[in-house]
Amino acid sequence: MIIVVGHEKGGVGKSTLAINIASRIQTDGASVVLVDTDTSASSSGWSTIREHLGVTPALTVVQRSASPGATVVDLAGRYDAVVCDMGAGDYQKLRDLTTICDLLIAPTQVGQTDLESTVRLWQACRKLDPAHKKGHVPMVVAINRAPVAWNNTEATDAREALQTACNGIVVLDAVLRDRKIWRDAGKQGRSIFEMPPRDSEKAVREFDEMLQEALRYQSKH
Ligand SMILES: Nc1ncnc2c1ncn2[C@@H]1O[C@H](COP(=O)(O)OP(=O)(O)OP(=O)(O)O)[C@@H](O)[C@H]1O
Ligand SMILES: [Mg+2]
Repeated sequence: MIIVVGHEKGGVGKSTLAINIASRIQTDGASVVLVDTDTSASSSGWSTIREHLGVTPALTVVQRSASPGATVVDLAGRYDAVVCDMGAGDYQKLRDLTTICDLLIAPTQVGQTDLESTVRLWQACRKLDPAHKKGHVPMVVAINRAPVAWNNTEATDAREALQTACNGIVVLDAVLRDRKIWRDAGKQGRSIFEMPPRDSEKAVREFDEMLQEALRYQSKH
């Protein structure tokens, strides 16, 4: 299975989600490789920190910033899952990878420019639909870094705005909140599952719900 984590917007959580998806799949017992297609190499940087600090188990990370499509297809024949971390605004690679992927997860934040960018990404994917083997790029939007305050409605508002602007868009019900544990884990070369449960419990629950929902979508489409 090829999972691409991509978006045209920078800083929305692509690398963070790609790393944690790969790590989660590996923890669940499947073989996985994380392909860092971003020239800024955040996933590879995380992997270097992980190795340096001796965090186990090792997670295989391959850096392929130029024309990764063929490499990804080759790896998909050798691993249960290939997770691709994409750079922001890289429409050339987006075209190459979305047409071969089994699932595109697009993290978005709730700000206006983030949502406008998500609409553009969705429109771009509709143009790529004919090139996908199933005739439809299997894209889901994951709302990330939503405010934690119980009475904050921005995640719900964002979902409604996207559904209004994009007919048929799939915005996952599970919402990832803005939680410091994500940054702490990244700095330590760890996934959030490898952090103390007392600190990571809420983030882990939200993430697992998001990933399960995304994989359910993938298995049905
Ligand atoms: N749910 C979250 N809560 C708190 N911080 C988060 C969350 N998700 C991501 N972050 C933090 O946001 C920052 C940007 O995340 P990340 O590097 O994954 O984004 P990106 O989309 O890959 O950025 P780029 O476009 O530069 O590649 C990081 O410091 C990361 O730890
Ligand atoms: Mg990144």
